Amino acid sequence: MKLSIEKVFSFVSENTIKAMATKAEQFNALLENGQGKGNDFLGWVNLPSSITSENIAELKAAAEVLRSKCEIVVVIGIGGSYLGAKAVIDALSNSFDFLLRDRKNPIMLYAGQNIGEDYLYELQNTLKDRQFGIINISKSGTTTEPAIAFRILKNMLETQVGKEEAKQRIIAVTDKAKGALRTLANQEGYKTFIIPDDVGGRFSVLTPVGLLPIAVAGYDIETLVKGAVDMENSTSTSVKFDDNISAIYAATRNALYADGKKIEILVNYHPKLHYFGEWWKQLYGESEGKENKGIFPAAVDFTTDLHSMGQWIQEGERTIFETVISVEKPNNSVIIPNDSENLDGLNFLAGKSVDQVNKMAELGTQIAHVDGGVPNMKVTIEKIDEYNLGQMIYFFERACGISGYMLEVNPFDQPGVEAYKKNMFALLEKPGFEAETKAIKERL
Ligand code: PA5
Repeated sequence: MKLSIEKVFSFVSENTIKAMATKAEQFNALLENGQGKGNDFLGWVNLPSSITSENIAELKAAAEVLRSKCEIVVVIGIGGSYLGAKAVIDALSNSFDFLLRDRKNPIMLYAGQNIGEDYLYELQNTLKDRQFGIINISKSGTTTEPAIAFRILKNMLETQVGKEEAKQRIIAVTDKAKGALRTLANQEGYKTFIIPDDVGGRFSVLTPVGLLPIAVAGYDIETLVKGAVDMENSTSTSVKFDDNISAIYAATRNALYADGKKIEILVNYHPKLHYFGEWWKQLYGESEGKENKGIFPAAVDFTTDLHSMGQWIQEGERTIFETVISVEKPNNSVIIPNDSENLDGLNFLAGKSVDQVNKMAELGTQIAHVDGGVPNMKVTIEKIDEYNLGQMIYFFERACGISGYMLEVNPFDQPGVEAYKKNMFALLEKPGFEAETKAIKERL
């Protein structure tokens, strides 16, 4: 994996970024020595290298149970409890997965990431009389959205296959002791996996939160972890700033922020990376958006969004910068055919691969956007596979920790997420929220 930052130098100089090296190294060290803010949530820092072959074997064995029994597995979770798994599974899956004949892997569906009634109605209809299983993920074990989805789907599964068989098809991933999901899982006797206390939701993709669904979907979690371990080593404090791509990325985005670039857009040129952008948005949004500060993380899928957001990016307010995920080689080849009539005028592309066209779109867009006042960074991976995804996950996590410290916030809490919950509980008249209910009703 490579990081290129030269296309920001006409906006912030190389010297400005280099001047931040000492700070970036100090903040990177805080992640390792645990002397910074939020230091009770640093379990992700050395997580990849602490995963043992026994851990992997246990995950694979549990995955195999669901794989052998279920044609559909529903992952229930929200935020950090589903985005990492979905990002990796979508990136590795065939884009037309649902229509594949002779499937080797279960279809992965998601629930509890919204409270849309139509969504849950349609999901129930889809699961009716199908062999399905559930992975229920919640660190707190009390989050409303997944709890509602689980209550509904548990009930449905028990009705379809009986309580005893349902127990074999439900796996819970939660806290070791706290929360309603832990109590329920213990009482029902579900297989469970633990989310470590010191790993927050958005940093948890390399715990069973992400690894179990990814293994159930049929992907190689060992190689994913290997990619992350290699990145853990190459971004550690023993690696000097000039070679430490997480430190360089953190410094560069903070230099751009100080220069008035308030919005970062993560760009992909492969639609299967769409949810990687969603995962990244949560990672940076929840980590940095606090104390009235923080770069706003946005994401686009190019070239699709060049035909919708492209105008704004090219000529709108000059407060943005881009970070492009560039994939060197696609996993498959499609060649544009010659056409003797050439009625569409496309014979100049005949014999070229679709990826060659995509690459020229990528290069042409980079030149246009930099010319138009948009600084551009590029993260290059060789291809979309488990190893490279593991590298990118850890690269962005490590950079996020350093970057949050550079911004002088606690990157590992999310106090703002509670505000809507408090109001929602008050409006729903949840027991224990009587005072809030009274206060909110007076405002309506
Ligand atoms: O990153 C976070 O902490 C959050 O996005 C949580 O992952 C999300 O709110 C879900 O929480 P829980 O896993 O406790 O249900």
